[in-house]
Amino acid sequence: MKKIKIGAVGLGRLGRKHAENIAFRIPNAELTAVCSLIQEEVDDVVRSWDIPYGYTDFNQMLKNKELDAIAISSSSTEHCKQIEAALDAEFHVFSEKPLGVNLEECKIAEKAVERHPDKVFFLGFMRRYDDSYAYAKKKIEEGAIGKPILIRCYGLDPVKAVKGAIAFAEKSGGLFLDMAIHDIDLARWYLGSEAKSIYAVGGCYAYEEFKKYNDADNGAALIQFKNGAIGMFYAGRTCAHGYHIETEIVGTEGSLRIGTIPEKNLVTVFNDNGVVRECVSGFLERFEKAYLNEMQEFVNCIVENRRPDVTVYDGTNSTIIAYACKESFENNKLVTLE
Ligand code: NAI
Repeated sequence: MKKIKIGAVGLGRLGRKHAENIAFRIPNAELTAVCSLIQEEVDDVVRSWDIPYGYTDFNQMLKNKELDAIAISSSSTEHCKQIEAALDAEFHVFSEKPLGVNLEECKIAEKAVERHPDKVFFLGFMRRYDDSYAYAKKKIEEGAIGKPILIRCYGLDPVKAVKGAIAFAEKSGGLFLDMAIHDIDLARWYLGSEAKSIYAVGGCYAYEEFKKYNDADNGAALIQFKNGAIGMFYAGRTCAHGYHIETEIVGTEGSLRIGTIPEKNLVTVFNDNGVVRECVSGFLERFEKAYLNEMQEFVNCIVENRRPDVTVYDGTNSTIIAYACKESFENNKLVTLE
């Protein structure tokens, strides 16, 4: 079996997990190179996993012609330029979300993808590859809830991860582009429509540190979609009970919910704390299988010369909406999209 040789850039909170999946869990892929600005991260992975090449300069990695593909998990502000450089260097490309942190950047990525129709471009909206979210999509398509008219989303990070979020804030694009973007992509996917008007609010209720980046620790957006459907989005970084990702889709003939109680597993603990269902602790735990599924699908698309369901345009359209949320929040005004 030919193995797709991948160079992974970004070895932080998520990038290391992608690198590990490529190295050990995807039979038709090989982790051939890694890259990070941080030398220790590179050295650690190269030594511990016996990876042939390690780089601190992304452009040097692109000169390695043994590689077939590049997996990008660098900071959000780096994605589009790295996507363009990697495609122009004739590699297949996987990129983490968001595609870009503004429309101009996304257009650069779009043009690069259009210039290289023979290359696979895969955007990491991994929730589409989560078993429960995929099942919900199937139920909606089968008509189980009639016509979807409302989507309500909670995307809440555990407060114990807030220090990392503050450190990451300068390059995250803000609460809506960093966190709500997953829900925005899901809303577009489930509703089959783009946003028309957006009003977003929020604030630094517990962590003033986000203020200097014009960011919020908690925020919400109300969106009307072009087909008339309603979107309610709540994103926050101060969730006391753990990592809470919940989605409800209401239709004309029923509704469905995904992750209403974000429980860790099927265990209930009965003790002097009461009757306790523990909460899933973070994104790596909740979406472990989805991260693996999406990377496997990226590799399979290359091997089978297929194009993934998620496109660069999904990336652009989700960024447009998330950016409009940011604009609405920052300027306290209703934003209407063409
Ligand atoms: P992080 O801050 O922990 O790590 C960033 C990594 O990128 C570091 O290894 C850093 O050295 C590297 N890097 C940054 N700029 C670089 C450059 N120019 N050249 C080479 N390496 C560079 O970030 P984290 O949390 O791992 O997030 C990475 C990306 O993944 C972000 O875009 C984030 O939005 C996304 N993400 C997606 C999640 C999901 O559920 N799909 C969850 C968490 C993050």
